[in-house]
Amino acid sequence: MSEEVFVSPKKKGKIAVFLSGRGSNFMAIHDAILAGKINAEIALVFSDKKDAPGLRIAEERNLETLFLDPKAYPSREAHEKAVTQEIRKRDVDLVVLAGYMRILSPSFCNELKYCMMNIHPALLPSFPGLHVQKKALEWGVKYSGATVHFVTVDVDMGPIILQAVVPVLQDDSEETLSERILKEEHKIYPESVRLYFEGKLEVRGRRVFIG
Ligand code: GRF
Repeated sequence: MSEEVFVSPKKKGKIAVFLSGRGSNFMAIHDAILAGKINAEIALVFSDKKDAPGLRIAEERNLETLFLDPKAYPSREAHEKAVTQEIRKRDVDLVVLAGYMRILSPSFCNELKYCMMNIHPALLPSFPGLHVQKKALEWGVKYSGATVHFVTVDVDMGPIILQAVVPVLQDDSEETLSERILKEEHKIYPESVRLYFEGKLEVRGRRVFIG
């Protein structure tokens, strides 16, 4: 069986950012767009949390925002269906998960295959899931970091786009390590989105080649 190949589109892209919290990665991407570094616009900032600080920041930046309460829907699929309609309405090319704290269903992930990215604050495949800086400290790794990857059905396991390595210091706490990792996240996430709309990401199987 021949390997599936995907090449990202070279175009002015439309992005939907999904967030549940503070939104610093969203801001880093928006700042890069405003600085002319990414050939894209943010068509929607979506949240599953009414009070997400990132949503307020998006409003202040005059971006279109949307909150859809998962509790208002009978199932995860019904909520996702409503979300899908909203992104389709806006011709979104790429969904950027930026601290979106909801596990997505396999059908949603499949529908947006290679059209959805996530950032994770560890060097995947080490430490998937939550509380990863704590896990890294407890394990005693000497290096951790951040990973941008395409989202697939297997949570935190999609093809890796970019990674940044951060040394773990002996006197690190969860907070100090998170802080240093976050600085790197703010570099590699905008860079991954930039590469995407430059048509420079080629996925072959699990590997992402950068042109
Ligand atoms: C980041 O650490 C990211 O890696 C993880 O969630 C956090 C979101 O932070 N997925 P922010 O909302 O972008 O500031």
